[in-house]
Amino acid sequence: MDDDGSQSITEVRKRKFAYQIGKDVTDRNGAVADSYFENYSGNRRYEDIFQAAFNSKYLVDLINAVWGAQAPYKLLDCGSANGLTLKQFDRLGVEAWGIENNAYIHSKTPVEWRRRNLLGDVRKMPFTDGSFDFIYETSLPYLPEEEIDQAIKEMFRVCRAGIVFHGTATDMTEEVIEDYELFAGLQTFWTFAEWSDAFVRNGFQFAVSDSSLLDEIWRIEQEADADDWNWYPNKESMRFSFFSKR
Ligand SMILES: C[S@@+](CC[C@H](N)C(=O)[O-])C[C@H]1O[C@@H](n2cnc3c(N)ncnc32)[C@H](O)[C@@H]1O
Repeated sequence: MDDDGSQSITEVRKRKFAYQIGKDVTDRNGAVADSYFENYSGNRRYEDIFQAAFNSKYLVDLINAVWGAQAPYKLLDCGSANGLTLKQFDRLGVEAWGIENNAYIHSKTPVEWRRRNLLGDVRKMPFTDGSFDFIYETSLPYLPEEEIDQAIKEMFRVCRAGIVFHGTATDMTEEVIEDYELFAGLQTFWTFAEWSDAFVRNGFQFAVSDSSLLDEIWRIEQEADADDWNWYPNKESMRFSFFSKR
């Protein structure tokens, strides 16, 4: 409850989606339960929903707009499941690697991507400093709050240019939280602004400050989701998802 007696958006959303909370959370090495991947969205498995849910061109277009980067470059998918994203990035000329801490989904990595999709934890990664130009991040909200800073510091260490935060925030639209059951497996429930505070206190800087750049990434978002709901609730929230190392 806020000082004025009103409920924060996080409290409102947690109440509305209480049925999702605690689902697929385990304390086994901090990994989500295997069942998380069997019921990824609408009772469908991660593999079955992947093509419809993941759009590498959209992410590559955003990276190009924000940092002016063109493939080839190296990218790390933090929370890469069975490595299906790597193949999609590869088709666009991006050398993508992955790190995933759930052994069950990781064991389903196709043979040709096993060398680049590692079983490991974003809190301590087996990569040297500055190994990747960019990080595509989807794993942080599955960690407990007290471990987020350690994980972001580790991402800062292995990253050279910037990070795209694509994890769940409590102020996303209700439609998207409901459709994808985005609160299942989560341990940290923060708004976009709270996530950006965490990136900034661990060394990153906002990558989008200019309003024409914000217009451009909002246009990319609208085009990608033309016949669907938006991932971001509004243009302003997109400022809180792109961070540069320097
Ligand atoms: C929402 S899924 C996204 C999968 C993939 N990146 C995509 O975009 O389709 C998040 C992934 O992060 C993984 N994950 C959660 N905590 C992790 C950790 N501490 N280290 C590595 N992976 C983690 C989960 O097991 C899950 O596979």
